[in-house]
Amino acid sequence: MVQPPRRIASLFRCLAVAVLACGAVASVQAAPAKPARLGLCAACHGETGMAQIPGAPHLAGQKLDYLREALKQYRDGRRNVPLMRAAIGPISDADLDELARWYSAQTPSAPTQGNP
Ligand code: HEC
Repeated sequence: MVQPPRRIASLFRCLAVAVLACGAVASVQAAPAKPARLGLCAACHGETGMAQIPGAPHLAGQKLDYLREALKQYRDGRRNVPLMRAAIGPISDADLDELARWYSAQTPSAPTQGNP
C-alpha cells in the first residue's frame, strides 16, 4: 500500500505550512503599533521612515537610542531646528518613545526618485 505514507507526508507538509504561517503572524505582532502622532511626521519622513521632502533625513532602521535622544534634543531645545521643534512640540516621553520605536523598527527601502 502506498496510500497511507503519502497521506502522512501531506499531513506533515500541511503542518509545516501552519508552523510557518504562525511564525509570520508572530513576527507581525512583534512590530510596534502605529503611533497616533505618526501622521504629521509622515508628511516629511514618510510613514516607513523614507523621507518625502528634500532636506528631511530617512529614519527607517535608525538605532532606537539615537532616535530617542534626537527627539529629546529637539523637544528640549538642545537641537534648535525650528522645523523639527514645531513638529515635535511638548511631547510626552511615552509618545516620543513610541515614535522612536516605530521608525527604528522600519526596514529602509530604496529612496524614491529624486532622492529627497
Ligand atoms: C516639516 C517637515 C518635518 C516634520 C513634520 C517632521 N520632521 Fe523630523 N526632521 C525634519 C528635518 C528637516 C530634519 C533635519 C533637522 C536637523 O537638521 O536637525 C528632521 C530631523 C528629525 C530627526 C533626527 C534625525 C537624525 O538623523 O538626527 C528625527 C528623529 C525626526 N526628525 C523625527 C520626526 C518625528 C518623530 C516627527 C513627527 C513628530 C517629525 N520628525 C516631523 C523635518 C520634519
